[in-house]
This record gives sequence, C-alpha cells and structure tokens, in this order.
Amino acid sequence: MTKPLDNFTMVLFGASGDLAARKLFPSVYQLYRWGHLPKSWRLICVGRSGQTHESFRAYVLDRVMSFAPESVDDRQRFEEFCRRIFYVDLHLDQPEGYAALAGEIRHAHGEEGLCNNLLFYLSTPPGLAPVIVGNLVRAGLGGRGRECPGWRKIVVEKPFGKDLQSALELNRILGEAFDESQVYRIDHYLGKEPVQNIMVFRFSNGMFEPLWNRQYIAQVQITIAEEFGIRGRGAYYEEAGLLRDIVQNHGLQLLAAVAMEPPVELEPEAIRDEKCKVLRSMRLFHRETASDTVVTGQYEGYRGEKGVAPDSTVETFAALKFMVDSWRWSGVPFYMKAGKCLGRSVTEIVITFRCPPQNFYGSSGTVSCTPNQVILGIQPDETVAIRFGAKRPGEEMVTDPVFMKFDYRESFPGEGLTPYHRLLLDAIEGNQMNFIRRDSLERSWEIIDSIRESLDGTVPEPYPPNSPGPDSAQRIYG
Ligand code: BG6
Repeated sequence: MTKPLDNFTMVLFGASGDLAARKLFPSVYQLYRWGHLPKSWRLICVGRSGQTHESFRAYVLDRVMSFAPESVDDRQRFEEFCRRIFYVDLHLDQPEGYAALAGEIRHAHGEEGLCNNLLFYLSTPPGLAPVIVGNLVRAGLGGRGRECPGWRKIVVEKPFGKDLQSALELNRILGEAFDESQVYRIDHYLGKEPVQNIMVFRFSNGMFEPLWNRQYIAQVQITIAEEFGIRGRGAYYEEAGLLRDIVQNHGLQLLAAVAMEPPVELEPEAIRDEKCKVLRSMRLFHRETASDTVVTGQYEGYRGEKGVAPDSTVETFAALKFMVDSWRWSGVPFYMKAGKCLGRSVTEIVITFRCPPQNFYGSSGTVSCTPNQVILGIQPDETVAIRFGAKRPGEEMVTDPVFMKFDYRESFPGEGLTPYHRLLLDAIEGNQMNFIRRDSLERSWEIIDSIRESLDGTVPEPYPPNSPGPDSAQRIYG
C-alpha cells in the first residue's frame, strides 16, 4: 500500500451467503489482523435472517472458524474485530428497510455518517442488483449528485448479467446511480498473483515481448480445469452454465492479459483500454463455423445433482477456438478449455512458439520439432516454465524437451495476499486497475452470446467424470 487507507464503512449485501462466509469475512479479518485497515472502519452486514448485531457476530466467528480457522489465532483480536460488525435486517425489495440501513450508517456519526466514505458490496444474485441499486438511490445512498466530501463506491460480484441485454440494462441502472469511476465489477481472477504477473512477465522483460506475436507464436492454449463438480450450486449452474460462469469472465480476462498491447502508462484506464481492445478484436462465433470452433460437454452425473433438471442441457465443459483479428495476432488460434469434473484442477496458459526453419536433431532419422513453450502456471502451481530442447547425453545427437522453471512459492516464500484481500484493498483505495470496465464487460457478453447462438441448441456431449472432457473436443484443434 502506498498511502494509509481512508476511514470507511462497508455495507455488505448477501452477508449470509456462501461467498461472504468463505472469502469476504476471512479476508476482511486478515486485513484487520495484518493492520491494513484504517483506524476507523465498520462493516454493516445486510441480511434477512432476523439476527441481532450480537448473533450475527457469533455467526461470523463460526464461519471464519470453519473456513479459515488458522487465521483466528488470537481470540481477543477476533472479538475486537467483531465489534466493528453490525447487522441490518431488510428485505432487499422493500424500500423501507433501506431507511433503517441509512439509520445504521448514521448511527456512529450522526447525519455526518452519510457523508463518510461508503463502500457498498453486492454479493447477491445478479437479478437483485437493480432492485438494490434503485432502493439505495431512493434512500439517498446513491453515488451521484452528492455534495459532501466522502466517497461512495459499489463493488458488484459476478455474474454481472446473463447476456449482453441484461448486462446493458444492469449497467444502465448502475450508471444512473453511480459514476463509472465509482463502480467496481469484480473478477477475483484478476487478484491472483500469477495473473497479475502476466503483464509483469511480458512488459518488464526485454526478451519475451519481441517474440510475442504472430511471427513467432504458433498458438496459445488456456486451460481452466477443475476436478470437482458444481459443489451444490445446482440452481445457479442451471441458470449460468460454464460459458457464463467461467469463460465470460476468468477465461476472457486471461486471454486479454496474454494478448494485450503494452499500455501507454501503468494507470488503470490505460491498462483497461488495452484489454478492451483485445476483446474488441476477437472474432465473434457463427453457426456456419461452430463445428470447428466450439464443443460443449456435460459431465455424467450432472443431471442427478441437487437443483438440476433431469433433462438439463446446461454445459459444464467447453473447448473453444478464439481468433484475435489484430496486427499482432492475426492467424494465431487461442484455444480455451474449461470444465468441471476434469480429473485434475489446473489453470495454466501455454504459449507455443513456431519451430525453427530447420531442425537437425530428431532421433535417428525422424526429425520432428518439439516447439518451445512458455507455460504460465496460475494454479495450483504458481510458476513460469520455459520449455526448450536439450541434447540428450550420449552418442546420438538428439534433443529432449527440458524445462526451466520459476516457482512463486520457492522464490517468494511467506504469506501473500489472496485475491479478495488484494481486490478489497484496491476498491477501498480507489484503484480500478483490476476491475472490469463497462465496455469490456459488454463486449465479453457479446462474445459469449455469439458462442451460445452459434451452438443453435446443440446438446452438450456427455463425458465421464475424471476424464479430460468429451473426445470430440479434439476437433477444434483442426
Ligand atoms: C468462480 C466460479 O467464479 O470461480 C466457480 O463461479 C469456480 O464455478 C471458481 O469454481 C474458481 O475460482 P478459483 O479461484 O477457486 O479457481
């Protein structure tokens, strides 16, 4: 952190939800424990479970103990932390409740409280965001047209809409209540250290960037594979499916980081401009070419999950071939494979280089090239590896592929910031660099809509759990 954080009040909608329990409470507590939070801050939790401040604090303790027990090493500290937590019971669609919320905000500081810095955090299903925002405005809690000095910001969790149309509408509603500079659309992938390192790797080293283009790169493969299924989120998954859940946000953001041009300066808008340009250069999908560019799948057993229709045609896997029609990338395929129940959890980006024009070192007569690769490991390994050919010891002049590897945890041991720590701090500090801008968001939905339309009702192909996905996914590699 460069400067001390402003004092603030955070208002968390969806405080009884899973994300709050697993990620937000443990992250806010750790920020507090590490001394990152300012002297005066409060967390107002909004829920519908009819709790009191006290009972909600006990709930927070219980949740943090189950999801991040190691962080509660000092019980007294945790109790001090809990005293900063307040609970407001309200029905999200009933405007009266928001007056009580405004009352709670005033509680500590009187009328002035409304002029203090306020961070709204929407960790709620996407359909609720318009209602919440509308009611905030009615209660005088919107971001626009205020005359007092404190800032107001709103963090909105994914999924941000379900298609271009709904995203446009949500952006319109948000835009009436908050200026774009006050809106933080969160994608937690952008808070991951190895994801932030993609730009650093590319733009702080002289030796990779000159090769980072269509002349030297043959293809890029992005993999976001998870060994587990939908983890009880049947109702959500039936609405979302993998394209909306993973590709629209995490997948396209990884692609944009790999493909973007160097920004003109290290400022949020300059970086967000370049990422948006990549999305704008991406070719949309069409029915005529769908068979060569997209395969979707559904793991066997998905239809038996709680909340899933017995005849569901929702995809839990996708293999895609994206094209970025820009000077740098014309003709280079960007493959993406993402899915649930794929046997192994791994997120990585493999950049494969073209072979040298002549290769003398194949094994006895069969001269074949093992191309160089840069492998950006995002998780579970946080690594950068470079693959190249080395002479196999012995009489024969043959090469074997070998790796040079950098491992984050070996080189930088110790407790780092998790994505939520980092992004929460960024939002409080007012740094939008790692949040999704409106134009990028809308373009990414346009891409996803085109994929969905190109499928034209094609039913996803079944694949066994713990497998690499449907065999037919191979066909997109041509
Ligand atoms: C979420 C998706 O955004 O990201 C989940 O909704 C997915 O389906 C998760 O499992 C993956 O995040 P991470 O950080 O655990 O890889």
